[in-house]
Amino acid sequence: MNKQQLAAFEAEWRPRINQYLDQQLQACSDRPTLAASMRYSVLAGGKRLRPLLTLAVLDVFGVTITPAHLRASTAVELMHTYSLIHDDLPAMDNDRLRRGEPTNHVKFGEDVAILAGDALQPLTFEWIADSGLPATMIAQQTLALAQATGPKGMVAGQVADVLGAGRHLALPALQQLHREKTGALIHYAVQAGLIQAEVPTAIQDPLLAYADAYGLAFQIYDDILDVTSTPEELGKATHKDADEHKNTYPGLLGLDGAQQALKQAVAAAEAALEQAQAISEREMTLLAAFLTYFTD
Ligand code: IPE
Ligand code: IPE
Ligand code: MG
Ligand code: MG
Ligand code: MG
Repeated sequence: MNKQQLAAFEAEWRPRINQYLDQQLQACSDRPTLAASMRYSVLAGGKRLRPLLTLAVLDVFGVTITPAHLRASTAVELMHTYSLIHDDLPAMDNDRLRRGEPTNHVKFGEDVAILAGDALQPLTFEWIADSGLPATMIAQQTLALAQATGPKGMVAGQVADVLGAGRHLALPALQQLHREKTGALIHYAVQAGLIQAEVPTAIQDPLLAYADAYGLAFQIYDDILDVTSTPEELGKATHKDADEHKNTYPGLLGLDGAQQALKQAVAAAEAALEQAQAISEREMTLLAAFLTYFTD
């Protein structure tokens, strides 16, 4: 695994993603408060992991990234940001710090924060639909994103998360919660790249297995960081999950057990990549490099 390869890819693409978001959100609404609220959270920063994953898949398959690819690939960040704005609301996780800044509802009030999230969802689909990609790719990504984020995906996971607070969940139920609330959108991010690169199904399968293992690892790691990290490092409150009686990997398995589960998920992602590499004869080192996110 090569941390430098990830750093180089991020150095190339994160500024372009950020610049694109900034430019495209300048006139996102004729309502100044709504526009300000949407821009505030989207442009507050963030790792941009999901669009980077899509672009990495395009890179692996040698696709030249056009403005159409960039638009369709960056759209997922709007959806992700909506999920964070709503996740932070008092009725949900009740958080006051996000991406190093006061949360959207702290800054704009709950009403506008809810509506900014509401507006970011259809805007995501708008960017995919008017990206200029071929119609079949647009249709496939639209379906995949609706499935990933809807009542069998991210929202299902968020419901399990809030309704499960204070109630013990066994490992299979917790794993499903994590796969839904976080894994599904990461699955989509990889899938979007596979759709745009027109990757054959036989090669898609192991790469989607990589995405699923990555998504699970990502939420296990997020749970671990809540215990081991600081607000200064993360830009969000820590030690929140235990306080809110959330079901987490460290809560269920202890910190060592959670770290063990993280290792297993990373190993599953690596194995899936090896399979993808064998079938496709494409170098997967860039996608392997994304796994260095979970190691110091
Ligand atoms: C945070 O996502 C919410 C989870 C799904 C755990 P990220 O860790 O990707 O947050 P940003 O986008 O970098 O702020
Ligand atoms: C958030 O999970 C998942 C979604 C936003 C869909 P968390 O509640 O653990 O994320 P953080 O820790 O607040 O970023
Ligand atoms: Mg939450
Ligand atoms: Mg939260
Ligand atoms: Mg968390």
